[in-house]
Amino acid sequence: MNAPLLKESFELIAPQKEAFARQFYERLFTTYPQTRPLFASTDMRRQESALMATLAAVVAGVERGENLVPVLRKLGERHYRYGVQPEHYPLVGQALLATFSDFLGPRFTPAMQDAWVQAFEVISSQMIAAGEP
Ligand code: HEM
Repeated sequence: MNAPLLKESFELIAPQKEAFARQFYERLFTTYPQTRPLFASTDMRRQESALMATLAAVVAGVERGENLVPVLRKLGERHYRYGVQPEHYPLVGQALLATFSDFLGPRFTPAMQDAWVQAFEVISSQMIAAGEP
């Protein structure tokens, strides 16, 4: 994973992270309404900070060269229990990238986009594998 580019883009949104998370879920639910029922009984304010904290932890972990596989597998097992299906992952990835573009405009460079596409691919493939029977 491209740690410097992930970190740089994440730091650019960090001052607005609450607004970023809120807009991400809004976009996810309006673009892909099929994801909304999964969060029917979720406290969205807590969920928003959980998402941002996890993304920050992944970026920091990549930067330190940590092995994120065990953490991602556990996260994936929990998501399987929440009812998350493999086909939901690309929707979340797409909404995440679109939210970065909304917030950063041209500061979200094609290289940063690639870095997030790749990172999301690694993260989601580990999470999905953990939920497979
Ligand atoms: C990069 C991938 C993802 C990350 C980093 C992530 C992160 C998180 C975190 C940190 C939580 C808090 C609870 C926990 O740690 O178990 C959570 C809960 C949840 N996530 Fe995700 N998630 C991802 C992908 C998805 C996808 C693809 C969906 C489906 C649309 C999804 C739906 C949910 C739901 C339904 C919950 C449970 C909310 C509740 O507690 O009521 N997540 N996620």
